[in-house]
Amino acid sequence: MRNYERTDFLSENRLKQRSYYIPKNSNAIQMLNGIWRFKFYPCDFYLEEDISNWESIDVPSCWQSRGYEEPNYTSKYPFAIDWPYVPDENPCGVYERDFIITDASPERKHYFVLEGAGTDATVYINGTYVGYTQGSHLQAEFDITDFIHNGKNTVRVVVHKWCFGSYLEDQDHFRYSGLFRDVYVLSRPQGHIVDIFIHTENTGKLHIEFEGKAKVFLLDGKEILAQQDSESEVEFLVKNPVLWNAEKPYLYTVRFEYLDEVIEIKIGFREIVISEKNELLINGSVVKLLGVNHHDTHWKNGWTMTDEELKNDLRLMKKLNINTVRTAHYPPTPKFLDFCDEIGLYVQLETDIETHGFLRLYGTANWNGSWNETEEWPCSIPEFREAFLERTIRAVERDKNHASIIMWSIGNESGYGENHAICMEWTKKRDPKRLVMYENGWRCEYNDIYTRMYPSLKDIDCHAQNPEIKRPIYYCEYSHAMGNGPGDVHDMTEQFYKYPNVLGGCIWEWADHNVIRNNVCRYGGDFGELTTEGNFCCDGIVFSDRSLKAAAYEVKAAYQPMKVELEGNRLLITNRYSFTDFDECELHISLQRDSSILKTKIMKISLAPHESTSIDVSEFCMEECAKFGCFVNLLLIKDEVEVAQKQFEIPSVRCEEAETFMAAEYEENKHEFIFKGADFTYVFDKHYGNFTSLLINGEEQLKEKIFLSSWRAPTDNDRKIKTFWGHEDLRQGENMNLVFSKVYDVTMDENEIKVRGSLGGVSRSPYFRYTLKITVSNKGVISYLLEGDVRENCVYLPRLGYEFVLHETTDDFEYFGQGPFESYNDMCHHTTMNLFRTSAEKEYVPYPVPQEHGNHTSVRYIKIGKLVFECPKGADVSVLPYSSHDLTTATHTDELPQRQATYLRFDYKNSGLGSGSCGPELERKYQLCEKHIEFQFQISPQSIGGVMED
Ligand code: GAL
Ligand code: MG
Repeated sequence: MRNYERTDFLSENRLKQRSYYIPKNSNAIQMLNGIWRFKFYPCDFYLEEDISNWESIDVPSCWQSRGYEEPNYTSKYPFAIDWPYVPDENPCGVYERDFIITDASPERKHYFVLEGAGTDATVYINGTYVGYTQGSHLQAEFDITDFIHNGKNTVRVVVHKWCFGSYLEDQDHFRYSGLFRDVYVLSRPQGHIVDIFIHTENTGKLHIEFEGKAKVFLLDGKEILAQQDSESEVEFLVKNPVLWNAEKPYLYTVRFEYLDEVIEIKIGFREIVISEKNELLINGSVVKLLGVNHHDTHWKNGWTMTDEELKNDLRLMKKLNINTVRTAHYPPTPKFLDFCDEIGLYVQLETDIETHGFLRLYGTANWNGSWNETEEWPCSIPEFREAFLERTIRAVERDKNHASIIMWSIGNESGYGENHAICMEWTKKRDPKRLVMYENGWRCEYNDIYTRMYPSLKDIDCHAQNPEIKRPIYYCEYSHAMGNGPGDVHDMTEQFYKYPNVLGGCIWEWADHNVIRNNVCRYGGDFGELTTEGNFCCDGIVFSDRSLKAAAYEVKAAYQPMKVELEGNRLLITNRYSFTDFDECELHISLQRDSSILKTKIMKISLAPHESTSIDVSEFCMEECAKFGCFVNLLLIKDEVEVAQKQFEIPSVRCEEAETFMAAEYEENKHEFIFKGADFTYVFDKHYGNFTSLLINGEEQLKEKIFLSSWRAPTDNDRKIKTFWGHEDLRQGENMNLVFSKVYDVTMDENEIKVRGSLGGVSRSPYFRYTLKITVSNKGVISYLLEGDVRENCVYLPRLGYEFVLHETTDDFEYFGQGPFESYNDMCHHTTMNLFRTSAEKEYVPYPVPQEHGNHTSVRYIKIGKLVFECPKGADVSVLPYSSHDLTTATHTDELPQRQATYLRFDYKNSGLGSGSCGPELERKYQLCEKHIEFQFQISPQSIGGVMED
């Protein structure tokens, strides 16, 4: 039997896990990052000892990102589940490099450290075997004192792609291999200290346990507060300590000096308590966890991220009002946690355990759709116990000194069994001051919280009000941000605030995982994988290059620290911070008429965390006359950054008197009505019941006839509902993508055209029957009035409205509606009503799988080409360089055709986005599920319709 397939050979000579630190003295660390000799073997059986034809690779990196093997995106085991065995074809990489030691002596100890290597690593120094480790995302340290000498030394690390540990690493992500995190050698004085565990209390008491002897200092910045020579234990007392929290992450330093060695550990004073009401109290103040799941992912480097990239992620999270990060589903590189301490984020630290693929142990035919918790699952198999426990211990021991970590997590999606219970018990006993959880282990007595995933709003009500649930509730995953969306973050967040016993949750997930090749985002299935989850890796609120999706702005709005309502002339303002008074911010109030700001006031209000106040804003609520509307805008600014925003529409009167209608002249022939005025000629087709030509000042505006439709290119979050709308499988659904638009008759009566017609999918009875009334005024104003009924037993519609194929030259446009980013009826909290200028090209969002996007809700006006559309009630509008059909069929961005056209959709309504790709069904209030529809709007030539002067 090969060692790497043994359940009792998880490591050899790997040192007991200690807390993470790198001594500060300049002679302590020799980084071995850089270029290494490298040899790749598709099958480890053919591994040679003497390698002559080396290639080279940079460390840290993943070998799949460097052209050795294609990446594989999957959440299932990409091999047969025949534990502890792994495939005969077990690829393997041999890494080798030289390094110089100058201080080898009986006074020094030397250690070789791997921060991330996987799935296993066998270490040799100068040709001699040193030791073995498994656990890709965990630290491994080896004592190499007896193996090195002064002068040139050689380290060789053999990494297997698969080992027994692979059964514990079935996370849903691209599978990568190699030395993907820092590698270094530490040189330390004989007798140095080893493990350090620092316990703080908010009274200022500091209890430091450590193995060894040292001079211990406590520092506040550069100032030494206390010091003591000591062995194994020290206590300090800080008077009136400044406490740590994610809003104000204040850190102290504990320094250990032993001979030439200096170790510094940053610590924070903070206390985690669950209140009687099951709230989370940090330092006595209620905190809601407004989180996001974070994977290490880079579009070019796979699992390898630089410090700067990690910091950027965290800084960006802060800007988006995120205060919590779950390290899904493994410990990050240790420095990530230093950054969380410094930047201020609460962390749910998860260890490297997921056995999701056991769900499919016997194939789909036997899959009952729920977590199998029989004795056949690793969580219940005794041979897996040691692996579970050591992975838990290594995470906790490594990271236990971080102020940011408030919760330990025993992995993800691994069923629930005895092995979990043992891990949770160990963790709780080792570190009673932090919370312990495991995603599926809400039944375990050592689990401090009740955790579920992807709840609906109603599920949250049920959990929160269920007297049987005695623990605080936390959603380690909610709001699945796949593709366009999610639309439910705002409402979910409000649910968190509604119930004291709901701690909050983490959105799935931070960033898309992609491999970008030739500017095209590639995802699962693009690499010839045997098993893949396709584009389920594209489910972040930011793209893989960290550009923001509208979702990111929506998260910022949902998580914003100010809640505000307008009641009459009073604003009801609540401070949702836990540690920041609003007197640290500026509140900007302005009155907006159409797109102009009439007046602004900057206020300082003193409002303590969690408190509410009401302020009189009658001076901003005066009724004005307006073309599109009047609004009161609020902005909360902190440190020159806009942290919260809200807009209220207030009553206004229309500036212009409605003109008396005078019908346009028209001619009629067998096929058409032709309307003519001073600067327009419109042709209406009597067979198809709509305009085929709109000539304004001699310029044709339309490329095709105007048509009614309800299809939208399904978003990823439409994954389930699209079966009912019709897509791919013609045996199911309404087939709205293959629609027959039938016009029963067209009549003209007193200058009003009346069209009766229907929309029906192929092989289906019509789902919509309507009457459309159209008038054309002598100034060229076309008024549409659509009235219709949706078939009683029809599923809710994706959208309903008119499509206009316009000339490409008309792609610049302006609109008054919710912008500037795309908005849907459930994902519009990040937008404001205003006048925006943009273009079809700028409206395009490069979702890796093309899909519906670019919508703007409540559009009251849009000027495009020589046309002006108006809809006082507000329409859902999009303008894109691609048709819904193009967006439906393309599977990658490079498959989108160049059309030389602009596609405008002017809709009665577009359904919301939700997060149904993995989460609940779209809430009914966001579905276009009305049975009777009335839709009224106008199209005018620009010369008279536009109010916005150029
Ligand atoms: C969750 C899982 C995540 C991810 C997500 C789907 O259930 O924990 O790792 O797979 O589903 O994107
Ligand atoms: Mg999974």
